[in-house]
Amino acid sequence: MSGSADPRDPRGDSGGPGEIAIEARSLHKRYGAVHALRGIDLVVRRGEMFALLGPNGAGKTTLFSILATLLRPSEGEARVLGHDTVRERARVRERIGIVFQEPALEGKLSVRDNLYLMGLFYRLSSRAAKARSEELLHTLGLEEVAEREAQKLSGGQKRRVELARALVASPDLLFLDEATLGLDVDARRQFWGEARRYSQRGGTVFLTTHYMDEAEPADRIALIDHGRILALDTPQALKNRIGGGVLLLATADDARAAAWLRERGFEPEVGARGVLLVVPEPAAVLPEVLAQLPVRTHRAEIHEPSLEDVFLKLTGRALEDGQAAPRARGPSGPGAAQ
Ligand SMILES: Nc1ncnc2c1ncn2[C@@H]1O[C@H](COP(=O)(O)OP(=O)(O)O)[C@@H](O)[C@H]1O
Ligand SMILES: [Mg+2]
Repeated sequence: MSGSADPRDPRGDSGGPGEIAIEARSLHKRYGAVHALRGIDLVVRRGEMFALLGPNGAGKTTLFSILATLLRPSEGEARVLGHDTVRERARVRERIGIVFQEPALEGKLSVRDNLYLMGLFYRLSSRAAKARSEELLHTLGLEEVAEREAQKLSGGQKRRVELARALVASPDLLFLDEATLGLDVDARRQFWGEARRYSQRGGTVFLTTHYMDEAEPADRIALIDHGRILALDTPQALKNRIGGGVLLLATADDARAAAWLRERGFEPEVGARGVLLVVPEPAAVLPEVLAQLPVRTHRAEIHEPSLEDVFLKLTGRALEDGQAAPRARGPSGPGAAQ
């Protein structure tokens, strides 16, 4: 749970250099007084789909930008596909595709021209740029809107065109920063399906998100908060790390319920969904807790740990709203403070 990468992960020294897509060492970034990255170490393997998951302000875009050569670190260094992101910026740039959080399409140009121009920008021949554009229009299901101005597309279509644009030069590595922000569930699913297919064909994907369901299909996830990586592992291993099952109680007074549980030796967290308790066998303690809890329980649920639970357990805060979970109503007992 320190800032280092998965201990089972072949580090830069032991794995062959050809197997490593991204390697960051002791990265720090300061914006004036803001210490946005506080010592990031990580290794992403080739062909891996890697998710950086954390709330707003965690440092995702900053780390993303450094790895994608758009920003220099204050300290430390990063290598992408074997090249230093500062000294060999151009070498890195020609082999990566980037989808930004912010829209980057030329709104007045057609979808087809957006792709074609990107091909030329990457110095494909006119013919190759055309052929590659047509291929992507086809595989990403954009043929119907190929002649439409980019600004007239739906949110989901725009994001798919951005993805197509990032893929024009057949990059070895795809960087996606909150690439589905603002999309509905279907459009998000479709987008990640495409990214998945790219990775199955051998491409490496580095994505950032604050939605746990978007990180879930990744091969490995780094949980980031306040500029530090809190944990880095496969989704399943992260959930196993929590060491038990989750008991979630929604009560008339969550703060009081948590205080009562603390007095009995439990380690509850109060989140937006209620009082969260991680115990080896939730079903075994549930009846006793329900019978004795001094506040009314509206709902009790037992589930396998989710990434949200892992994050809450590691930080005491909820993931998706990026803020502290709203405090339970009612008088705050001694256990209410977090
Ligand atoms: N250009 C900037 N100038 C000053 N502070 C910044 C700048 N960019 C980001 N920050 C700050 O750095 C921290 C990390 O931001 P960012 O990397 O954008 O996080 P995320 O992408 O996870 O939301 C935040 O506190 C943010 O306010
Ligand atoms: Mg961001």
